[in-house]
Amino acid sequence: MNYQAFIDQQVAAIREAVGEGLAINALSGGVDSSVVTALGHRALGDRLRSVFVDSALMRQDEPQLVVDMFAKLDIPVEVIDARSEFLDALRGLIDPEEKRHAVTNTFYEKVFGRIVRQSGATHLLHGTILTDIEETVDGIKRQHNILAQLGIDPKDAYGYHVLEPLKTLRKDDVRQLARALGFNEELADRIPFPGPALATRIVGEVTAERLETVRRATAIVEEELAGCGAFQYLAVLLSDRATGIRDGRREFGQIIVVRCLHSTDARTATPVELPWATLHRICERVTALPGVNRCLYDLTPKPPATIEYI
Ligand code: XMP
Repeated sequence: MNYQAFIDQQVAAIREAVGEGLAINALSGGVDSSVVTALGHRALGDRLRSVFVDSALMRQDEPQLVVDMFAKLDIPVEVIDARSEFLDALRGLIDPEEKRHAVTNTFYEKVFGRIVRQSGATHLLHGTILTDIEETVDGIKRQHNILAQLGIDPKDAYGYHVLEPLKTLRKDDVRQLARALGFNEELADRIPFPGPALATRIVGEVTAERLETVRRATAIVEEELAGCGAFQYLAVLLSDRATGIRDGRREFGQIIVVRCLHSTDARTATPVELPWATLHRICERVTALPGVNRCLYDLTPKPPATIEYI
């Protein structure tokens, strides 16, 4: 694939679609939305407004990290605090598809609907990639960023058009594109992070407290496995509990699952044979988190599992 030609084509297509209008896009800190931001910025300059929606579902320190990363590229990113809106929408939900739906709705209808009305933007730029579309169309899970393929016309439903410059690409191509756009290796190689964020890694109800547990576990797993060469690694909080002992007393505690997978395009994935010492260190640190007394390593490939738990 000729990445430079792809960049030129997409920049021209974004310019043509948006015309003299304004566009917005949301950054999650992952490579897909970062690449879309760079393409959009090339096409539209300051007629693209890039936002980081703090949904309460993001990773530790992520808002500042994303703002700083893009400041180096002279792309301003605005942080929008929508934490209570997302937590309210997720309250009491257990069913995985209902949780995904709540996140999607809050994102597109409430938060983006509002930004669009306030800014007069006509287009939303989106980091949808081919795998997201395929899994939704195949009925595996309702991917957060899929609208048209589910029969949702974003113009009718939310009042803006959606542009998806990466929808023919898979993750490995997106990484090459990131390099061609001048991103450093750290960003081009950043592990995937899903649109519905940590909500995909909590089985059962998503609450501020449970998010804090999975956020801290995620930070430990990402720190310990950084540079291990895997496609993706993550922590999941289960809804089951298990009996354990803390400070000599019985504790009915939380269970964290660690996942670390090889993959090229996320359609299939196999677990990484991590060194025992690494697993031990992760287990020790994760079970030091308040209320967590079990740490499990998930050996299931995709299929039959998926990468995330929701
Ligand atoms: P699964 O869990 O379906 O994940 O095996 C495959 C890859 O996609 C990511 N993922 C998402 N990405 N929106 C996204 O942009 C989503 O709704 C979504 N759900 C899962 C996941 O992290 C993995 O890399």
